[in-house]
Amino acid sequence: MMNHTKSLNKTFVTLMATLLLVLALVVPAHAATYPDDGDYTVEYSVLHAVNNVTSMLDAYRDTTFYGGKAFLEVSGSGSTQTVTVRFTNDSYITAFEVELGSGYVPATLVSGTSFTYSFPYSDFESLLKVRAYIEIPGPLPGFPDGYSTWREARFSFGTIDEI
Ligand code: HEM
Repeated sequence: MMNHTKSLNKTFVTLMATLLLVLALVVPAHAATYPDDGDYTVEYSVLHAVNNVTSMLDAYRDTTFYGGKAFLEVSGSGSTQTVTVRFTNDSYITAFEVELGSGYVPATLVSGTSFTYSFPYSDFESLLKVRAYIEIPGPLPGFPDGYSTWREARFSFGTIDEI
């Protein structure tokens, strides 16, 4: 009787261990957390180039694109991180550059779009210097020849959420 109980206990423990192992294998891996490979949104706002106030550029984030957030794609075990942002049509942006390393580099205009730009970036703790070329045909009040100028600002990043 004693031996029988012992062997039942042993069988039970073995069964439970097998069940746990099967569960661990079957339950899908936990949702990716940045910087795991995957797709994310990154909150951001646009600050003035030198003063800590909101930039005029902030109002031209396209809210129909991930709610005005940046889209981040991480691949290659974290080695490739690409950020994409979209501005509104009335931003009149004809070129967009980000300061990476030694100076401004042109962001890539996403094919088939007018105001969607992507660039490699992963340092979301720091402010990112950006500049946009804005071209509004004139004459405009105060700008008889139109508004055509580079404007500098800084991206300030916030929460990163997996999509
Ligand atoms: C006709 C329309 C516009 C007018 C009359 C205008 C006018 C101005 C003026 C007077 C300044 C201040 C310059 C200075 O203090 O040095 C300025 C700054 C600036 N503008 Fe515009 N602007 C216009 C459109 C836009 C648009 C469409 C954008 C962006 C998409 C933009 C982005 C900026 C930025 C980034 C600055 C630098 C200050 C900041 O960060 O707010 N502007 N603009």
